[in-house]
Amino acid sequence: MSSDQPAEGIRLQKVLASAGLGSRRACEQLIAQGRVTVDGRGVAELGSRVDPETSVVRVDGKRVNLRSGQVYLAMNKPRGVLTAMSDPHGRPTVGDLVAHRSERLFHVGRLDAETEGLLILTNDGEFAHRLAHPSHEVVKTYIAEVPGPVDRSLARRLKDGIELEDGPVRVDEFQVIGYSAGRALVQVSLHVGRNHIVRRLLDAVGHPVDRLVRTAIGPVRLADQRSGSIRELTAAELGELYRLLDL
Ligand code: URA
Repeated sequence: MSSDQPAEGIRLQKVLASAGLGSRRACEQLIAQGRVTVDGRGVAELGSRVDPETSVVRVDGKRVNLRSGQVYLAMNKPRGVLTAMSDPHGRPTVGDLVAHRSERLFHVGRLDAETEGLLILTNDGEFAHRLAHPSHEVVKTYIAEVPGPVDRSLARRLKDGIELEDGPVRVDEFQVIGYSAGRALVQVSLHVGRNHIVRRLLDAVGHPVDRLVRTAIGPVRLADQRSGSIRELTAAELGELYRLLDL
């Protein structure tokens, strides 16, 4: 057993540094500045030790993931790939893109096969359950390519709510972000997670979607992540998601 890991736990600054909060020195400063709590209590001494498996550590009120076995990944799902871990018919799946990883991962929610963009995968069941559950209302943002022009009154109509066959849908934000050759690029944010929701919604208002990309899930952004690539969520993204999900 190393001197850093006696039976009583691991030094708080080491645990914070391993969780991606910065160098040990930077983490010591976070502790000294009184920004860290362990199991609800403020800890300002550097000697504190914690059990990463059981302690709840927060920095500035946001929970930090300490459990080394848990992974949280952001994938840029390519068009044409099924949101499934495997497919009995041999079609390409997101499972193929993480097949080299040893964890038992599952995807959180789904994107249609034809939809691209941000998909979160994890092996943390409680996190996945909460993130997919409508009660937590995490906002998702999409960019859609649709036939233009788009009427100026559309944003108001979509924010007021559109009646679909399975009930009304209201968007949080709607914006035209570009035009080219008679086509419009629109950005839609909503916290409803029903099947094909963005395609059905835009279809219902006369703008059938040609291309759809999910660009954000709450604080997690796709940015310039390459199609088919996978990255770990940052400590800041995860902390913010834990907060939104009451974890
Ligand atoms: N809305 C859709 O229409 N498709 C998706 O994949 C996600 C949201």
